[in-house]
Amino acid sequence: MWVGLATWGLARGSGWRRLTRRAFGVGFATWDLACGSGWAAPDWIGLRATYNRPVPRRLVILGSTGSIGVQALDVVGRSGGELQVVGLSAGHDWRTLTRQAAEHGVGRIAVADVDAAAQAAEAWTGGEILSGPDGLVSLVTESACDLVLNAIVGSAGLLPAVATLGEGIDLALANKESLVVGGELVTQLAEATGATIIPVDSEHSALHQLIMREGAGTIERLILTASGGPFRGRSVEQLADVTVEGALAHPTWSMGGKITIDCATLMNKGLELIEAHHLFGTPYEQIDVVVHPQSIIHGLIALCDGATLAHLGHPDMRVPISYALHLPERVDVPVARLDLAALGRLTFEPPDEETFACLRLARAAGQAGGTAPCTLNAANEVAVHAFLGGRLPFLGIAAVIEDTLSRLGVEQVQSFDSLTDADAQARAVAASLVEERAAA
Ligand SMILES: NC(=O)c1ccc[n+]([C@@H]2O[C@H](COP(=O)([O-])OP(=O)(O)OC[C@H]3O[C@@H](n4cnc5c(N)ncnc54)[C@H](OP(=O)(O)O)[C@@H]3O)[C@@H](O)[C@H]2O)c1
Repeated sequence: MWVGLATWGLARGSGWRRLTRRAFGVGFATWDLACGSGWAAPDWIGLRATYNRPVPRRLVILGSTGSIGVQALDVVGRSGGELQVVGLSAGHDWRTLTRQAAEHGVGRIAVADVDAAAQAAEAWTGGEILSGPDGLVSLVTESACDLVLNAIVGSAGLLPAVATLGEGIDLALANKESLVVGGELVTQLAEATGATIIPVDSEHSALHQLIMREGAGTIERLILTASGGPFRGRSVEQLADVTVEGALAHPTWSMGGKITIDCATLMNKGLELIEAHHLFGTPYEQIDVVVHPQSIIHGLIALCDGATLAHLGHPDMRVPISYALHLPERVDVPVARLDLAALGRLTFEPPDEETFACLRLARAAGQAGGTAPCTLNAANEVAVHAFLGGRLPFLGIAAVIEDTLSRLGVEQVQSFDSLTDADAQARAVAASLVEERAAA
Protein backbone atom coordinates (compact mmCIF):
# COMPACT_ATOMS: atom_id res chain seq x y z
CA MET A 1 0.00 0.00 0.00
CA TRP A 2 2.87 2.35 0.75
CA VAL A 3 4.11 1.81 -2.78
CA GLY A 4 0.59 2.61 -3.96
CA LEU A 5 0.44 5.84 -1.99
CA ALA A 6 3.88 6.91 -3.18
CA THR A 7 2.86 6.21 -6.75
CA TRP A 8 -0.23 8.29 -6.29
CA GLY A 9 1.90 11.09 -4.92
CA LEU A 10 4.09 11.03 -8.00
CA ALA A 11 1.16 10.80 -10.38
CA ARG A 12 -0.51 13.74 -8.69
CA GLY A 13 2.68 15.75 -8.97
CA SER A 14 2.24 16.13 -12.68
CA GLY A 15 -1.35 15.33 -13.42
CA TRP A 16 -3.80 16.29 -10.72
CA ARG A 17 -4.55 19.78 -11.89
CA ARG A 18 -5.39 18.60 -15.38
CA LEU A 19 -7.55 15.80 -13.93
CA THR A 20 -9.34 18.27 -11.69
CA ARG A 21 -10.09 20.60 -14.54
CA ARG A 22 -11.37 17.73 -16.62
CA ALA A 23 -13.64 16.47 -13.84
CA PHE A 24 -15.11 19.87 -13.06
CA GLY A 25 -15.19 20.76 -16.75
CA VAL A 26 -17.70 17.98 -17.38
CA GLY A 27 -19.87 19.45 -14.65
CA PHE A 28 -19.78 22.94 -16.06
CA ALA A 29 -20.55 21.70 -19.56
CA THR A 30 -23.57 19.76 -18.35
CA TRP A 31 -24.89 22.77 -16.49
CA ASP A 32 -24.20 25.08 -19.44
CA LEU A 33 -26.71 23.13 -21.50
CA ALA A 34 -29.37 23.30 -18.82
CA CYS A 35 -29.12 26.69 -17.14
CA GLY A 36 -26.20 28.71 -18.44
CA SER A 37 -23.81 28.66 -15.47
CA GLY A 38 -23.06 26.53 -12.44
CA TRP A 39 -22.02 22.99 -11.65
CA ALA A 40 -23.08 19.34 -11.61
CA ALA A 41 -22.39 16.83 -8.84
CA PRO A 42 -19.32 14.66 -9.44
CA ASP A 43 -19.32 10.85 -9.68
CA TRP A 44 -17.38 10.17 -6.48
CA ILE A 45 -20.37 10.90 -4.26
CA GLY A 46 -22.15 8.05 -5.98
CA LEU A 47 -25.29 9.88 -7.04
CA ARG A 48 -25.43 8.17 -10.38
CA ALA A 49 -23.79 4.93 -9.31
CA THR A 50 -25.72 1.69 -9.20
CA TYR A 51 -25.46 0.35 -5.70
CA ASN A 52 -25.11 -3.36 -5.68
CA ARG A 53 -23.59 -3.83 -2.31
CA PRO A 54 -23.16 -7.19 -0.63
CA VAL A 55 -25.18 -8.14 2.44
CA PRO A 56 -23.86 -8.52 5.04
CA ARG A 57 -21.73 -5.47 4.39
CA ARG A 58 -18.22 -5.88 5.84
CA LEU A 59 -17.41 -2.68 7.70
CA VAL A 60 -14.25 -1.20 9.24
CA ILE A 61 -14.84 1.62 11.74
CA LEU A 62 -11.87 3.92 12.27
CA GLY A 63 -12.20 5.99 15.45
CA SER A 64 -14.75 3.62 17.00
CA THR A 65 -14.06 4.89 20.54
CA GLY A 66 -15.18 8.43 19.74
CA SER A 67 -18.56 10.11 19.58
CA ILE A 68 -19.32 9.11 15.96
CA GLY A 69 -17.72 5.69 16.38
CA VAL A 70 -19.86 4.77 19.39
CA GLN A 71 -23.03 5.91 17.62
CA ALA A 72 -22.01 3.93 14.54
CA LEU A 73 -21.72 0.78 16.66
CA ASP A 74 -25.23 1.49 17.92
CA VAL A 75 -26.41 1.60 14.28
CA VAL A 76 -24.53 -1.65 13.58
CA GLY A 77 -26.12 -3.32 16.61
CA ARG A 78 -29.58 -2.53 15.22
CA SER A 79 -28.84 -3.73 11.69
CA GLY A 80 -29.94 -7.31 12.25
CA GLY A 81 -26.63 -8.60 10.90
CA GLU A 82 -26.72 -6.57 7.67
CA LEU A 83 -23.66 -4.66 8.87
CA GLN A 84 -20.79 -6.85 10.02
CA VAL A 85 -17.85 -5.13 11.71
CA VAL A 86 -14.52 -6.66 10.66
CA GLY A 87 -12.14 -4.02 12.07
CA LEU A 88 -12.06 -1.28 14.69
CA SER A 89 -9.50 1.38 15.55
CA ALA A 90 -8.69 3.99 18.19
CA GLY A 91 -6.01 6.58 18.85
CA HIS A 92 -5.07 5.68 22.46
CA ASP A 93 -8.09 4.25 24.23
CA TRP A 94 -7.32 0.53 23.86
CA ARG A 95 -9.49 -0.47 26.85
CA THR A 96 -12.68 0.83 25.23
CA LEU A 97 -11.53 -0.54 21.88
CA THR A 98 -10.96 -4.09 23.14
CA ARG A 99 -14.30 -4.01 24.96
CA GLN A 100 -16.02 -2.95 21.72
CA ALA A 101 -14.20 -5.70 19.81
CA ALA A 102 -15.40 -8.30 22.30
CA GLU A 103 -18.98 -7.01 22.18
CA HIS A 104 -19.12 -7.03 18.37
CA GLY A 105 -17.08 -10.18 17.75
CA VAL A 106 -14.26 -8.33 15.98
CA GLY A 107 -10.90 -10.12 15.68
CA ARG A 108 -8.72 -7.32 14.23
CA ILE A 109 -8.16 -3.94 15.81
CA ALA A 110 -5.66 -1.13 15.33
CA VAL A 111 -4.33 1.42 17.81
CA ALA A 112 -2.57 4.48 16.36
CA ASP A 113 -0.45 5.18 19.44
CA VAL A 114 2.29 2.52 19.52
CA ASP A 115 2.65 2.50 23.32
CA ALA A 116 -1.09 2.07 23.76
CA ALA A 117 -1.02 -0.69 21.14
CA ALA A 118 1.71 -2.47 23.09
CA GLN A 119 -0.38 -2.29 26.28
CA ALA A 120 -3.36 -3.64 24.37
CA ALA A 121 -1.26 -6.51 23.04
CA GLU A 122 -0.30 -7.52 26.59
CA ALA A 123 -3.87 -7.39 27.87
CA TRP A 124 -6.02 -8.61 24.94
CA THR A 125 -6.13 -12.16 23.68
CA GLY A 126 -9.18 -11.78 21.43
CA GLY A 127 -7.37 -11.39 18.11
CA GLU A 128 -4.80 -9.42 16.12
CA ILE A 129 -3.65 -5.94 17.16
CA LEU A 130 -2.14 -3.64 14.55
CA SER A 131 -0.04 -0.72 15.71
CA GLY A 132 0.66 2.86 14.64
CA PRO A 133 -0.65 4.84 11.64
CA ASP A 134 0.58 2.04 9.33
CA GLY A 135 -1.49 -0.38 11.38
CA LEU A 136 -4.63 1.62 10.57
CA VAL A 137 -3.74 1.46 6.88
CA SER A 138 -3.26 -2.33 7.11
CA LEU A 139 -6.59 -2.66 8.89
CA VAL A 140 -8.25 -0.96 5.93
CA THR A 141 -6.38 -2.71 3.16
CA GLU A 142 -6.19 -6.25 4.59
CA SER A 143 -9.65 -6.83 6.06
CA ALA A 144 -11.50 -7.56 2.81
CA CYS A 145 -14.02 -4.88 3.76
CA ASP A 146 -16.72 -3.33 1.57
CA LEU A 147 -17.01 -0.03 3.43
CA VAL A 148 -14.84 2.03 5.79
CA LEU A 149 -16.33 4.55 8.22
CA ASN A 150 -13.63 7.13 8.93
CA ALA A 151 -14.57 8.72 12.28
CA ILE A 152 -11.06 9.77 13.29
CA VAL A 153 -10.70 13.35 14.48
CA GLY A 154 -8.24 15.69 12.78
CA SER A 155 -5.83 15.38 9.87
CA ALA A 156 -4.72 11.96 11.19
CA GLY A 157 -7.74 10.75 9.20
CA LEU A 158 -6.17 11.66 5.85
CA LEU A 159 -3.81 8.68 5.48
CA PRO A 160 -6.47 6.00 6.12
CA ALA A 161 -8.90 7.90 3.86
CA VAL A 162 -6.33 7.78 1.07
CA ALA A 163 -5.65 4.10 1.76
CA THR A 164 -9.38 3.32 1.57
CA LEU A 165 -10.00 5.14 -1.68
CA GLY A 166 -6.69 3.94 -3.16
CA GLU A 167 -7.97 0.38 -2.74
CA GLY A 168 -11.26 1.31 -4.42
CA ILE A 169 -13.19 0.77 -1.17
CA ASP A 170 -16.22 2.98 -0.48
CA LEU A 171 -15.69 5.55 2.27
CA ALA A 172 -18.32 6.80 4.71
CA LEU A 173 -16.61 10.02 5.74
CA ALA A 174 -17.13 11.76 9.07
CA ASN A 175 -13.52 12.97 9.16
CA LYS A 176 -14.05 16.30 7.40
CA GLU A 177 -10.42 17.29 7.99
CA SER A 178 -9.17 14.83 5.37
CA LEU A 179 -11.19 16.64 2.68
CA VAL A 180 -10.18 20.04 4.02
CA VAL A 181 -6.49 19.13 3.92
CA GLY A 182 -6.35 17.05 0.75
CA GLY A 183 -9.69 17.61 -0.97
CA GLU A 184 -8.52 17.77 -4.56
CA LEU A 185 -6.16 14.80 -4.33
CA VAL A 186 -8.65 12.76 -2.31
CA THR A 187 -11.54 13.29 -4.70
CA GLN A 188 -9.36 12.64 -7.74
CA LEU A 189 -8.22 9.40 -6.13
CA ALA A 190 -11.85 8.36 -5.68
CA GLU A 191 -12.58 9.28 -9.27
CA ALA A 192 -9.63 7.24 -10.50
CA THR A 193 -10.43 4.09 -8.50
CA GLY A 194 -14.22 4.32 -8.75
CA ALA A 195 -14.69 4.40 -4.97
CA THR A 196 -17.57 6.38 -3.52
CA ILE A 197 -17.34 8.98 -0.74
CA ILE A 198 -20.55 9.06 1.29
CA PRO A 199 -20.74 12.03 3.66
CA VAL A 200 -21.57 11.44 7.33
CA ASP A 201 -21.50 15.06 8.49
CA SER A 202 -25.18 15.88 9.04
CA GLU A 203 -25.19 18.91 6.74
CA HIS A 204 -23.47 17.08 3.89
CA SER A 205 -25.62 14.01 4.39
CA ALA A 206 -28.66 16.29 4.07
CA LEU A 207 -27.26 17.85 0.89
CA HIS A 208 -26.42 14.39 -0.49
CA GLN A 209 -30.02 13.28 0.01
CA LEU A 210 -31.35 16.45 -1.62
CA ILE A 211 -28.94 16.53 -4.55
CA MET A 212 -29.54 12.84 -5.23
CA ARG A 213 -33.05 13.64 -6.39
CA GLU A 214 -32.10 16.42 -8.80
CA GLY A 215 -30.99 16.19 -12.39
CA ALA A 216 -27.67 17.69 -13.48
CA GLY A 217 -27.75 21.44 -13.90
CA THR A 218 -30.80 22.27 -11.78
CA ILE A 219 -29.07 23.33 -8.54
CA GLU A 220 -28.07 26.98 -8.15
CA ARG A 221 -26.86 27.09 -4.54
CA LEU A 222 -26.07 24.89 -1.57
CA ILE A 223 -27.00 26.24 1.85
CA LEU A 224 -25.30 24.94 5.00
CA THR A 225 -26.98 25.61 8.32
CA ALA A 226 -25.01 26.40 11.50
CA SER A 227 -26.30 26.34 15.06
CA GLY A 228 -24.15 29.37 15.87
CA GLY A 229 -22.65 27.53 18.85
CA PRO A 230 -22.85 28.46 22.54
CA PHE A 231 -21.61 32.03 22.02
CA ARG A 232 -24.00 33.12 19.26
CA GLY A 233 -24.87 36.81 19.54
CA ARG A 234 -21.86 37.74 21.69
CA SER A 235 -19.48 40.58 20.84
CA VAL A 236 -15.69 40.29 20.63
CA GLU A 237 -15.44 41.90 24.10
CA GLN A 238 -17.82 39.30 25.53
CA LEU A 239 -15.70 36.49 24.08
CA ALA A 240 -12.47 37.67 25.70
CA ASP A 241 -12.76 35.57 28.85
CA VAL A 242 -15.04 32.66 27.95
CA THR A 243 -14.09 29.35 29.55
CA VAL A 244 -13.38 25.91 28.13
CA GLU A 245 -16.48 24.61 29.94
CA GLY A 246 -18.60 27.32 28.32
CA ALA A 247 -17.21 26.54 24.87
CA LEU A 248 -17.87 22.81 25.35
CA ALA A 249 -21.54 23.41 26.22
CA HIS A 250 -23.02 23.07 22.72
CA PRO A 251 -26.70 24.07 22.64
CA THR A 252 -28.00 21.34 20.29
CA TRP A 253 -25.41 18.63 19.45
CA SER A 254 -23.45 16.22 21.67
CA MET A 255 -20.02 15.62 20.06
CA GLY A 256 -16.31 15.10 20.65
CA GLY A 257 -14.28 17.92 22.22
CA LYS A 258 -12.44 19.22 19.16
CA ILE A 259 -15.50 19.58 16.92
CA THR A 260 -17.43 21.18 19.80
CA ILE A 261 -14.80 23.92 20.10
CA ASP A 262 -14.84 24.25 16.29
CA CYS A 263 -18.59 24.89 16.56
CA ALA A 264 -18.05 27.60 19.17
CA THR A 265 -15.54 29.43 16.92
CA LEU A 266 -17.57 28.72 13.73
CA MET A 267 -14.47 27.00 12.33
CA ASN A 268 -16.58 23.87 12.05
CA LYS A 269 -18.78 25.64 9.49
CA GLY A 270 -15.68 26.88 7.70
CA LEU A 271 -14.31 23.33 7.49
CA GLU A 272 -17.72 22.16 6.28
CA LEU A 273 -17.73 24.82 3.58
CA ILE A 274 -14.45 23.47 2.21
CA GLU A 275 -15.74 19.90 2.62
CA ALA A 276 -18.89 20.74 0.62
CA HIS A 277 -16.84 22.40 -2.12
CA HIS A 278 -14.82 19.21 -2.63
CA LEU A 279 -17.56 16.66 -2.06
CA PHE A 280 -20.09 18.20 -4.40
CA GLY A 281 -17.70 19.99 -6.81
CA THR A 282 -19.45 23.26 -6.04
CA PRO A 283 -17.72 26.65 -6.46
CA TYR A 284 -17.41 28.55 -3.16
CA GLU A 285 -19.48 31.40 -4.56
CA GLN A 286 -22.45 29.04 -4.72
CA ILE A 287 -22.31 27.81 -1.11
CA ASP A 288 -24.03 29.90 1.58
CA VAL A 289 -24.01 29.58 5.36
CA VAL A 290 -27.02 30.57 7.46
CA VAL A 291 -27.26 30.42 11.25
CA HIS A 292 -30.24 28.34 12.40
CA PRO A 293 -30.07 27.94 16.20
CA GLN A 294 -32.58 25.08 16.48
CA SER A 295 -30.49 22.70 14.28
CA ILE A 296 -33.64 21.22 12.75
CA ILE A 297 -32.87 22.06 9.12
CA HIS A 298 -29.52 20.48 8.23
CA GLY A 299 -29.10 21.62 4.63
CA LEU A 300 -30.93 23.22 1.72
CA ILE A 301 -30.56 23.39 -2.04
CA ALA A 302 -31.84 26.29 -4.14
CA LEU A 303 -33.00 25.27 -7.62
CA CYS A 304 -33.09 27.06 -10.96
CA ASP A 305 -36.93 27.25 -10.95
CA GLY A 306 -36.93 29.27 -7.71
CA ALA A 307 -37.79 26.32 -5.43
CA THR A 308 -35.68 25.60 -2.32
CA LEU A 309 -35.62 22.09 -0.81
CA ALA A 310 -34.67 21.43 2.82
CA HIS A 311 -33.76 18.37 4.90
CA LEU A 312 -35.19 18.39 8.44
CA GLY A 313 -34.89 16.26 11.56
CA HIS A 314 -33.95 16.39 15.22
CA PRO A 315 -30.17 16.60 15.71
CA ASP A 316 -29.07 12.98 16.14
CA MET A 317 -25.98 11.73 14.31
CA ARG A 318 -27.34 8.19 14.11
CA VAL A 319 -29.55 9.39 11.23
CA PRO A 320 -26.72 10.41 8.85
CA ILE A 321 -24.56 7.51 10.07
CA SER A 322 -27.35 5.05 9.29
CA TYR A 323 -27.91 6.68 5.90
CA ALA A 324 -24.22 6.33 4.99
CA LEU A 325 -23.85 2.74 6.22
CA HIS A 326 -27.09 1.41 4.69
CA LEU A 327 -27.22 3.37 1.42
CA PRO A 328 -29.15 2.76 -0.84
CA GLU A 329 -31.56 1.30 1.73
CA ARG A 330 -33.18 3.22 4.58
CA VAL A 331 -33.78 1.48 7.89
CA ASP A 332 -35.56 2.40 11.12
CA VAL A 333 -33.60 4.66 13.48
CA PRO A 334 -35.04 5.16 16.99
CA VAL A 335 -34.93 8.96 17.06
CA ALA A 336 -37.63 11.44 18.00
CA ARG A 337 -39.98 12.18 15.11
CA LEU A 338 -40.45 15.78 14.04
CA ASP A 339 -43.52 17.64 15.32
CA LEU A 340 -43.42 21.05 13.65
CA ALA A 341 -46.46 22.37 15.54
CA ALA A 342 -44.76 21.51 18.84
CA LEU A 343 -41.53 23.18 17.68
CA GLY A 344 -43.48 26.34 16.90
CA ARG A 345 -40.90 28.26 14.92
CA LEU A 346 -37.57 27.96 13.19
CA THR A 347 -35.31 31.02 13.04
CA PHE A 348 -32.45 32.11 10.80
CA GLU A 349 -29.80 34.84 10.83
CA PRO A 350 -26.59 35.63 8.95
CA PRO A 351 -23.30 34.44 10.50
CA ASP A 352 -21.26 37.13 12.27
CA GLU A 353 -17.93 36.67 10.46
CA GLU A 354 -16.36 39.73 12.10
CA THR A 355 -16.74 38.39 15.63
CA PHE A 356 -16.27 34.74 14.63
CA ALA A 357 -13.34 35.23 12.29
CA CYS A 358 -12.67 31.52 11.76
CA LEU A 359 -15.48 31.20 9.22
CA ARG A 360 -14.09 34.10 7.22
CA LEU A 361 -10.55 32.67 7.42
CA ALA A 362 -11.74 29.25 6.26
CA ARG A 363 -13.63 30.65 3.29
CA ALA A 364 -10.58 32.71 2.27
CA ALA A 365 -8.26 29.68 2.67
CA GLY A 366 -10.61 27.51 0.62
CA GLN A 367 -10.75 30.08 -2.15
CA ALA A 368 -6.96 30.54 -2.07
CA GLY A 369 -6.58 26.76 -2.51
CA GLY A 370 -3.17 25.05 -2.63
CA THR A 371 -1.72 24.50 0.84
CA ALA A 372 -3.89 27.20 2.49
CA PRO A 373 -6.67 24.86 3.74
CA CYS A 374 -4.03 22.43 5.05
CA THR A 375 -2.31 25.29 6.90
CA LEU A 376 -5.65 26.53 8.25
CA ASN A 377 -6.56 23.08 9.53
CA ALA A 378 -3.18 22.37 11.15
CA ALA A 379 -3.09 25.76 12.88
CA ASN A 380 -6.65 25.22 14.08
CA GLU A 381 -5.82 21.79 15.54
CA VAL A 382 -2.84 23.26 17.41
CA ALA A 383 -4.81 26.29 18.63
CA VAL A 384 -7.84 24.28 19.76
CA HIS A 385 -5.55 21.88 21.63
CA ALA A 386 -3.90 24.85 23.35
CA PHE A 387 -7.28 26.36 24.24
CA LEU A 388 -8.50 23.05 25.70
CA GLY A 389 -5.24 22.88 27.68
CA GLY A 390 -5.74 26.38 29.09
CA ARG A 391 -2.72 27.81 27.21
CA LEU A 392 -4.61 30.06 24.77
CA PRO A 393 -7.69 32.25 25.23
CA PHE A 394 -10.73 31.65 23.03
CA LEU A 395 -10.03 34.65 20.77
CA GLY A 396 -6.43 33.47 20.43
CA ILE A 397 -7.63 30.54 18.29
CA ALA A 398 -8.56 32.73 15.31
CA ALA A 399 -5.55 34.99 15.89
CA VAL A 400 -3.09 32.09 15.79
CA ILE A 401 -4.70 30.70 12.62
CA GLU A 402 -4.64 34.09 10.88
CA ASP A 403 -0.99 34.70 11.81
CA THR A 404 0.03 31.21 10.69
CA LEU A 405 -1.70 31.69 7.34
CA SER A 406 -0.08 35.06 6.75
CA ARG A 407 3.41 33.81 7.73
CA LEU A 408 3.31 30.74 5.51
CA GLY A 409 1.56 31.96 2.38
CA VAL A 410 0.15 29.57 -0.22
CA GLU A 411 2.07 26.89 -2.10
CA GLN A 412 0.81 24.61 -4.85
CA VAL A 413 -0.01 21.06 -3.76
CA GLN A 414 2.11 18.65 -5.78
CA SER A 415 1.45 15.42 -3.91
CA PHE A 416 0.32 13.97 -0.60
CA ASP A 417 3.93 14.40 0.57
CA SER A 418 3.70 18.17 0.04
CA LEU A 419 0.60 18.18 2.24
CA THR A 420 2.50 16.35 4.98
CA ASP A 421 5.23 19.00 4.77
CA ALA A 422 2.72 21.89 4.81
CA ASP A 423 0.92 20.35 7.79
CA ALA A 424 4.17 19.97 9.77
CA GLN A 425 5.30 23.50 8.93
CA ALA A 426 1.96 24.99 9.97
CA ARG A 427 1.94 23.05 13.24
CA ALA A 428 5.44 24.33 14.08
CA VAL A 429 4.53 27.96 13.32
CA ALA A 430 1.20 27.76 15.17
CA ALA A 431 2.85 26.14 18.21
CA SER A 432 5.46 28.91 18.40
CA LEU A 433 2.72 31.54 18.09
CA VAL A 434 0.86 29.90 20.98
CA GLU A 435 4.03 29.98 23.08
CA GLU A 436 4.70 33.64 22.19
CA ARG A 437 1.19 34.56 23.30
CA ALA A 438 1.44 32.51 26.49
CA ALA A 439 4.74 34.23 27.36
CA ALA A 440 3.47 37.76 26.59
N1 LIG B 1 -19.33 14.03 16.88
C1 LIG B 1 -20.17 14.44 15.96
O1 LIG B 1 -21.37 14.54 16.21
C2 LIG B 1 -19.67 14.78 14.58
C3 LIG B 1 -20.58 15.30 13.65
C4 LIG B 1 -20.14 15.54 12.35
C5 LIG B 1 -18.81 15.31 12.01
N2 LIG B 1 -17.95 14.85 12.95
C6 LIG B 1 -16.54 14.62 12.57
O2 LIG B 1 -16.22 13.26 12.84
C7 LIG B 1 -14.86 13.15 13.26
C8 LIG B 1 -14.85 12.48 14.63
O3 LIG B 1 -15.48 13.33 15.55
P1 LIG B 1 -15.86 12.85 17.03
O4 LIG B 1 -16.66 13.94 17.61
O5 LIG B 1 -16.41 11.46 16.96
O6 LIG B 1 -14.41 12.83 17.70
P2 LIG B 1 -13.96 12.15 19.05
O7 LIG B 1 -15.12 11.85 19.91
O8 LIG B 1 -12.87 12.98 19.60
O9 LIG B 1 -13.35 10.73 18.57
C9 LIG B 1 -12.23 10.71 17.72
C10 LIG B 1 -11.80 9.29 17.40
O10 LIG B 1 -10.55 9.35 16.67
C11 LIG B 1 -9.54 8.61 17.39
N3 LIG B 1 -8.27 9.30 17.22
C12 LIG B 1 -7.86 10.45 17.82
N4 LIG B 1 -6.63 10.77 17.39
C13 LIG B 1 -6.25 9.80 16.52
C14 LIG B 1 -5.07 9.57 15.76
N5 LIG B 1 -4.01 10.40 15.81
N6 LIG B 1 -5.02 8.48 14.96
C15 LIG B 1 -6.07 7.62 14.91
N7 LIG B 1 -7.20 7.78 15.61
C16 LIG B 1 -7.29 8.85 16.41
C17 LIG B 1 -10.01 8.63 18.83
O11 LIG B 1 -9.40 7.59 19.57
P3 LIG B 1 -9.23 7.72 21.19
O12 LIG B 1 -10.62 7.55 21.75
O13 LIG B 1 -8.32 6.62 21.53
O14 LIG B 1 -8.68 9.09 21.44
C18 LIG B 1 -11.52 8.44 18.64
O15 LIG B 1 -11.80 7.08 18.35
C19 LIG B 1 -14.30 14.58 13.27
O16 LIG B 1 -13.65 14.82 12.05
C20 LIG B 1 -15.55 15.46 13.37
O17 LIG B 1 -15.35 16.73 12.80
C21 LIG B 1 -18.35 14.57 14.21
